[in-house]
Amino acid sequence: MALLEIENIHKKFGKTEVLKGISFSLDKGEVLSVLGSSGGGKTTLLRCINFLETPDVGTIKINGEKIFDAGSGEKTTEKQIRQNRLHFGLVFQSFNLFPQYTVLENLMLAKELIEKSKKKDGMTKEQIKEQAYELLKNVGLTEKAGSYPCELSGGQQQRVAIARALSLNPEVLCFDEPTSALDPELTGEVLRVIKELKNTDRTMIIVTHELGFARNVSDRVMVIADGRIEEEGTPDEVFDNPKSAKMRAFLNKSLERL
Ligand SMILES: Nc1ncnc2c1ncn2[C@@H]1O[C@H](COP(=O)(O)OP(=O)(O)O)[C@@H](O)[C@H]1O
Ligand SMILES: [Mg+2]
Repeated sequence: MALLEIENIHKKFGKTEVLKGISFSLDKGEVLSVLGSSGGGKTTLLRCINFLETPDVGTIKINGEKIFDAGSGEKTTEKQIRQNRLHFGLVFQSFNLFPQYTVLENLMLAKELIEKSKKKDGMTKEQIKEQAYELLKNVGLTEKAGSYPCELSGGQQQRVAIARALSLNPEVLCFDEPTSALDPELTGEVLRVIKELKNTDRTMIIVTHELGFARNVSDRVMVIADGRIEEEGTPDEVFDNPKSAKMRAFLNKSLERL
């Protein structure tokens, strides 16, 4: 059974239909890269999957369980939305760390809230701190535990943001152009961390313009244009034998920029 099943997602802003029926599924440990020109709906899709936007049509299933159904006629409660979000982690283009907290605090805050809300068997603050150090070690930043985000380079901030997204151990980790806000010399360290996550069997959806990276790290590639899936397949299929004219044009345009 697929870990994640997205079925016929539609999303409108006012009169503009931004997503026009997106369906795909993802197995555990699979890495899906999402490519496509700006304005195509990639961020909106990630926001729908992470329950930051509510789709107008469509269903979302995780491990076979329907956690969202636009057609059910029922309004999803805030509590349900919070619960649903726990399945997913999202790393933004602009890092979005809390500037007033240290790196370690950034990694502990969400987990502390969750554990405190448990009636029993919650982790202690010490255990959460230990976990935060472990996460920091995995992204190679143990020595920055006491620093504030503004004291870190963009690449380091993004590595902390990745560690933070992992602190709640989401089943699906999503990235929205994780290196687009970085100087070229800092993208490598972030892409390396994402690559290592693939080796630990993380299930990931990565929106990116780094075509070489997408080809290298993905099991599947999906191209979104104008709110629809324009092309989908293995990296070899999509990059070597694109079926659609739009994809060929997108590839040519992207290669021109290199
Ligand atoms: N909150 C919003 N309100 C109105 N329009 C939006 C909103 N978010 C996105 N859009 C529009 O949806 C389209 C797709 O945007 P987006 O999902 O950000 O695309 P991408 O990430 O592929 O560049 C764009 O035309 C954008 O202006
Ligand atoms: Mg975007």
